[in-house]
Amino acid sequence: MIGEAFRGGIFHFLSDPKDGVTGCYEFFEDGLLVVENGRITQLGDAEPLVDELDISVRIHEYAGKIICPGFVDTHVHYPQLAIIASYGESLLDWLECYAFDEEKKFDDADHSLTTANHFLDELLRCGTTTAQVFGTVHPESVEGFFTAAEQRDLRMICGKVLMDRNGPLGLLDTPETSYIDSKNLIERWHGRGRLRYAVSPRFAPTSTPDQLATACQLLREYPGTHLQTHLSEDKEEINWVKSLFPSCKNYLDVYKRAGLLGKRSTFAHCLHLTEADWEILQDERCSVAFCPSSNLFLGSGLFDLPRLQFADVKVGIGTDVGAGTSLSMLQTIADAYKTQRLAGNDLSPLSGLYMATLGGAKSLDCDADIGNFKIGKEADFTVLDPESTPLMSYRMQNCKSLEERLAVIVLLGDDRAISATYANGHCVHDRDIDEES
Ligand code: GUN
Ligand code: ZN
Repeated sequence: MIGEAFRGGIFHFLSDPKDGVTGCYEFFEDGLLVVENGRITQLGDAEPLVDELDISVRIHEYAGKIICPGFVDTHVHYPQLAIIASYGESLLDWLECYAFDEEKKFDDADHSLTTANHFLDELLRCGTTTAQVFGTVHPESVEGFFTAAEQRDLRMICGKVLMDRNGPLGLLDTPETSYIDSKNLIERWHGRGRLRYAVSPRFAPTSTPDQLATACQLLREYPGTHLQTHLSEDKEEINWVKSLFPSCKNYLDVYKRAGLLGKRSTFAHCLHLTEADWEILQDERCSVAFCPSSNLFLGSGLFDLPRLQFADVKVGIGTDVGAGTSLSMLQTIADAYKTQRLAGNDLSPLSGLYMATLGGAKSLDCDADIGNFKIGKEADFTVLDPESTPLMSYRMQNCKSLEERLAVIVLLGDDRAISATYANGHCVHDRDIDEES
């Protein structure tokens, strides 16, 4: 592949702003990002880099825009796309009324592939290049998802839901079938190109202890696979877990005893945990997916971000669509900011942007490959447009610093602020071309 270069404002994180804002990011007002064979080979000020480029290198001009690493959505359900914004009720009712019925459709391979294509196009329109994604209980759902992700050359994580009780007919497996189906999917897809597999028990109420043991067996047999599930989202759910697992100390203890905690384990929500739980999550190097939009929509509770940061637990941001109401990480960071204000905490837009890029990549143990523009990493990035709406453009005139400009993009932005998205160096979304067609 011939090299390509991207010229414009370039922004990326080097470390977490919570450990000190000074030096936590790099910004080149007129920068140049050089990509060869899908990897970043050079980054710096356009002058003098541009004069040293081979004449065969094509230069993409993004003057006035800000090129930043692709967003990482650490928790989302692609099969729930068609029921996004289904009005009403708390978690358990919402699952029964909307999510479960929709998920039944994914025993069909064509439906799975069509929905996955639609979902990935939407993600890329929102600037998200990596996500950790739930399928449904049906292996077809994961097959469709990985097929669509491979066609776009994306770094994606997905897994078949394990669910052998407390669900409707058509949405249940058994410990035996879940083991065989997951094993087949892992052998076919895990580590193929940029795809990774996540063992995915839905949540404690829908798995028997036998099935949770199966999940642990899969993680042990296939080192490098991920674990994704839900934890402590809703008070009614927590009481249900208590009654289903009377010998466990609490919700987290169910997963701990099953052997599901580790450095590639992501627990979504974590709204009602104890001090001891945070310490366990820290000691086991687990990560947490903060899903503010979903937490607001279902009224599940407020996330204790400062407590989590104090414990030094890895945290990423999840849209949690379909309970979340947007696939846009910009909108989701804005919701994170607002829920933290409501809880009396501060979340700077800069910290939100970190969690949606390098922080998310670290959460998913993918930061060796993505998350910022370190030389050698994969060229997954998005091009932010600070003039994407008349209001944003007007507000920008009043900005006195880069950090203020970024805050305005985060707090007023949505899919319109994404001018283009690149995955492994290829253009996978161009707003201006899409608008014309
Ligand atoms: N807990 C178990 N399943 C789900 C789901 O699909 N969405 C959310 N938000 N929480 C869950
Ligand atoms: Zn979820």
